[in-house]
Amino acid sequence: MRFIHFKELGSTNDTLLKMAEEGVEPWTVVIADKQTSGRGREGRDWWSPPGSLYMSVLLRPQVEARELMRLPVLASLALLDAIGNAGSRLLIKWPNDILLDGRKLAGILVESRSEGSRVVNAVVGFGVNMRQTSGPLKTDLTAGMAFTDELVKDLTPRELAESIVVNLIDWSGAIKGEGWKSAVEKWTGHAELGIPYVFRERGKETRGTPVGLDDSGGLVMETEKGKVTVYSGEITKV
Ligand code: BTN
Repeated sequence: MRFIHFKELGSTNDTLLKMAEEGVEPWTVVIADKQTSGRGREGRDWWSPPGSLYMSVLLRPQVEARELMRLPVLASLALLDAIGNAGSRLLIKWPNDILLDGRKLAGILVESRSEGSRVVNAVVGFGVNMRQTSGPLKTDLTAGMAFTDELVKDLTPRELAESIVVNLIDWSGAIKGEGWKSAVEKWTGHAELGIPYVFRERGKETRGTPVGLDDSGGLVMETEKGKVTVYSGEITKV
């Protein structure tokens, strides 16, 4: 792995996606102390003041595009392992939010480019809230946020970054299947399952109870029409 550290970027994902097209090696990692146009899932912004972790990691997994859906699951396990053992206080909300006591600690944004059905490059962006920063108090923003310093003091963004990447290297083989079963077991042990959720995609709502992951990383929900598997979109507690 090769870390490239910037003081400020628009978005680490954007920078690494561009570098990937220019041919940088897999496991190149881009970190920024802050981002000016950090992006979240579903077109949302990711507020990125100094003090937290903003990192993107490049993989070239040599898989079909449909197999890549396992990557967000594996990335959330890499993150969970790196944050440490907080027992049931830390939960994964499908597809890959990490919650601490129900508040959002971290998010992951996977973006990729394929040629035909083959993945050419995949960038995994991690945003981890590490500490409340000084400056204007954004109470509306920070209300639902959690920070790693509630769990571990003195952890630096760089230390956390290195341990996430080491874990992601370990888990990445499971994209092709080797170790996928244990990844699903671990994910299931940390996921919010068995409680009612609403799944929303393109204006359509489905109510159901998440019961687990399917073989490709989709979320299986028990609904009144039977089992439904969702592959993208957002789920929210009822
Ligand atoms: C989410 O919506 O939960 C995903 C947030 C992902 C944010 C990270 S910060 C580093 C990387 N660069 C970005 O612009 N976004 C991701």
